[in-house]
Amino acid sequence: MAKTAATTGHPARIDQLFAGPGARADRWRNLVELAQAWANGADKAKFEAALGEMTATEEFHAYPGSQLMTALRDRAAANDAQGAVALARRITRALLTRSFRQSAGDWDANEDADEVAADVMPPGTGRAEARRPYFEVLIVTGAPAARWPALCAEWRRLRRPLDQFVYEPVIVGSFEDAVCASLLNADLAAVIIHDGFVFRSRHDAPILRTLTAEAEEKETAQMSALRLAQVLKRIRPELDLYLVSNAAVEEIAGDPKADVVRRVFYAVEELLELHLSILEGVQDRYETPFFDNLKKYAQRPIGTFHALPIARGKSVFNSDWIRDMGEFYGINLFLAESSATTGGLDSMLEPTGNIKRAQEKAARALGADRVFFVTNGTSTSNKMAVQALLAPGDIAIVDRNCHKSHHYGMVLGGAQPLYVEAFPLTAYSMYGAVPLRTIKQALLNLKADGRLNRAKMLDLTNCTFDGHIYNTRRVMEECLAIKPDLIFLWDEAWFGFARFSPFLRPRTAMGAANEIEAWLRDPKSVEAYEKQQAELGADASDETLLNTRLIPDPRKVKLRVYQTNSTHKSMSAIRQGSQLSVKDVEFHTVEAQFKEAVFTHASTSPNQQLIASLDVSRRQMELEGYGLVHNAIEVALAIRQAVAQHPLISKYFSILGADKLVPAEYRESGFTDYLDGKTNWATARRSLHEDEFCLDPTRMTLVCGTAGYDGTQFKGMLASRYNVQVNKTSRNSVLVQSNINNTRSDIAHLVRVLAEISNEIEQRLAQGGANVRKEFDARVKSLMTDVPDLPNFSHFHDAFRKDAGKRTQEGDMRSAFYAAYDAEGCEYIPLGDAEIDRRLKDGPDLVSANFVIPYPPGFPIMVPGQVITQETIDFMRKLDVKEIHGYDAAEGLKLVSADALAKLAGVAAKRAA
Ligand SMILES: Cc1ncc(COP(=O)(O)O)c(C=O)c1O
Repeated sequence: MAKTAATTGHPARIDQLFAGPGARADRWRNLVELAQAWANGADKAKFEAALGEMTATEEFHAYPGSQLMTALRDRAAANDAQGAVALARRITRALLTRSFRQSAGDWDANEDADEVAADVMPPGTGRAEARRPYFEVLIVTGAPAARWPALCAEWRRLRRPLDQFVYEPVIVGSFEDAVCASLLNADLAAVIIHDGFVFRSRHDAPILRTLTAEAEEKETAQMSALRLAQVLKRIRPELDLYLVSNAAVEEIAGDPKADVVRRVFYAVEELLELHLSILEGVQDRYETPFFDNLKKYAQRPIGTFHALPIARGKSVFNSDWIRDMGEFYGINLFLAESSATTGGLDSMLEPTGNIKRAQEKAARALGADRVFFVTNGTSTSNKMAVQALLAPGDIAIVDRNCHKSHHYGMVLGGAQPLYVEAFPLTAYSMYGAVPLRTIKQALLNLKADGRLNRAKMLDLTNCTFDGHIYNTRRVMEECLAIKPDLIFLWDEAWFGFARFSPFLRPRTAMGAANEIEAWLRDPKSVEAYEKQQAELGADASDETLLNTRLIPDPRKVKLRVYQTNSTHKSMSAIRQGSQLSVKDVEFHTVEAQFKEAVFTHASTSPNQQLIASLDVSRRQMELEGYGLVHNAIEVALAIRQAVAQHPLISKYFSILGADKLVPAEYRESGFTDYLDGKTNWATARRSLHEDEFCLDPTRMTLVCGTAGYDGTQFKGMLASRYNVQVNKTSRNSVLVQSNINNTRSDIAHLVRVLAEISNEIEQRLAQGGANVRKEFDARVKSLMTDVPDLPNFSHFHDAFRKDAGKRTQEGDMRSAFYAAYDAEGCEYIPLGDAEIDRRLKDGPDLVSANFVIPYPPGFPIMVPGQVITQETIDFMRKLDVKEIHGYDAAEGLKLVSADALAKLAGVAAKRAA
């Protein structure tokens, strides 16, 4: 894993996992230290060795570039230790502050240079144009390395003051180097691939090979440019790819494989065209149709004679009483407010203009066919999808621990949930994810009951709150093998950022859907299916089907995948910004229903800032998402490591790895943890490829029960005493999450706080004597060992299973929900009342009238119509959390009375007859 200098004192090797921008900065800092040591009399060889090790990977970045790297080597050769220190320090500072993007002086080896030679510094950078966004372009070429500096100079000469952006070329000569550069250089926005490059890197750096394993490519004498383009597109789909060839470009352009390429050029005579295309490609990602228009709108002198008095801000800024709000938020917030959908603004309910275009761009970025912007959070996106895709009576296989929006969506729409259980993590009072075997069994049961046609949807959370990631592709393929038109709704509220990591992307809904789509088109897929059918035979038992990795029939599959993202949870959208992505070959059959769902759930007054932030967050992720996500992962791994390695912190706290949170049977690759010394890019990738469940590295379950704190208490203390906010809690843990906003200072702050708390505990225990120790041990035992068993979903009462099958547990939750509206048909019994125990023993059944959702853990332990069992009551009685939605301790459990149930059952029986 990525060992940062911050935690180990040594910079990370690049083949170690997620050694990203932080690790690069560490390598430079380390070089400065070695130069300083040399200047103070230590061995020069160490400095030279470190510099030598960095040479290969530094070539994947424009800065510091070959001239400054050569200057460093020259200073070593000339025994100029002070000169080496000064230059290494300047380069490091320029990298850390990113000043090289604007400052011409950073590109010159000579600090005191009055004038910077034109071919040393990139023209186009410099004070006057300091604010132009900067990116880098990878050029893959067969030209000899000696010609590269001249090529760079040629590219720089193309720059014009009119250009909206400025970029630097980065030149490589092989397939391996191109793949490494695409992985290591987050500043890349485009790639130009010329014919004639070779496979092997010119550097004999075996550590690069673990990176190129990503591409799963075999060596051939000359690599095909189209093949490289395809590999790069898989790693970084946001990059614009250009092919330059001397061969028959017409043929190349017509090849279906060239779909991944933005344009094909004939030879180099088109250099200026290529330059303009690169800028246009970046401009296309930079353009934010809604936000751009909103900015223009805000500049116009507009008289508003509609609702929304705060639009234009006059009632705010002219007020003695609320002007502070205006001053706090700034004038633009009000100038950009409008309730109009005309005058250049579009309608969220029926977008035809810039919202539509913004959504189309979001679809491109997320790998979807279409995207709906939603301004009421993923709570609403989920309800929209459930309503649009399910009709009353349809069955949906649902993770019982999913967010409440799914359960309420089913209540509203009348769909019948068939709850499936995730594997429990009782020790931490939380659930994992639903095993594929459980899901397949549910489908096979429905089939055996002759009711598979009513099963319309599989509804799962990916990743779960605690970070369990499904093998989305495998789940969908195996389910499609049983029901080829099953719809998948993946709640990826937390996982939107994963699209921008090549490691996590295949395990997102859209990432997997794109791979399945490609597989469906491959003629070999039908062969694979038929071969498996021949092996299975016509009457394969359920057991055989459960034990086989099922292949669907590509000719029958109708791929219907939906993904919801809380864009505000992992990208730069304002709170409640959410996106619903669609990849559904049958979308035309549900389009009208989707409109209705939008009309049902979307506000008629959507917030303009929110829509703009959805648009802008897409721009950001397409242009810098790769680096930001990489950094978030690196931050998480550094936190994991700091906690594990600190002698005092690790005595009281730990962050759970995959070995603790994913049972071994679901880790087929043998992966144990990101901290395992053997983990590198290749092993982590294998786990992500093969394992049934993986852990999102950015979600960290920090166990605090071992420090004597329950989750809620610890979360409160972090917030009130240390200004540290964390995510959810469990009985004995809190969830710490890194995101694209985190920096290494945040790591330092968290580690400092944990060290301080550990120190306090240590002192308290040392000074408190035997009693304090005894109390502490008892508290830890209570939190860590005396944990309540997690109750499974029991079953719906027969009164709500009028049309249910024999083998499955689905029920008519809507009727149960509305039964609670009949006050006379409901009763309340306090949780501690002996009547509960008597009823559990002798009946009649206790049937919940509503959802009961304790926070934590946050999943419904009772749903309307569910028969309450001893396990549920035991769990409730042991539960020591204050916040339980749907349960009033003074009144007790709200139940559908036995009389009401008898009446409902009678009605149901009559209907069934
Ligand atoms: C899995 C899951 N889905 C959906 C939601 C709701 O998302 P939002 O807060 O954007 O409405 C949440 C919220 O925490 C969630 O955890």
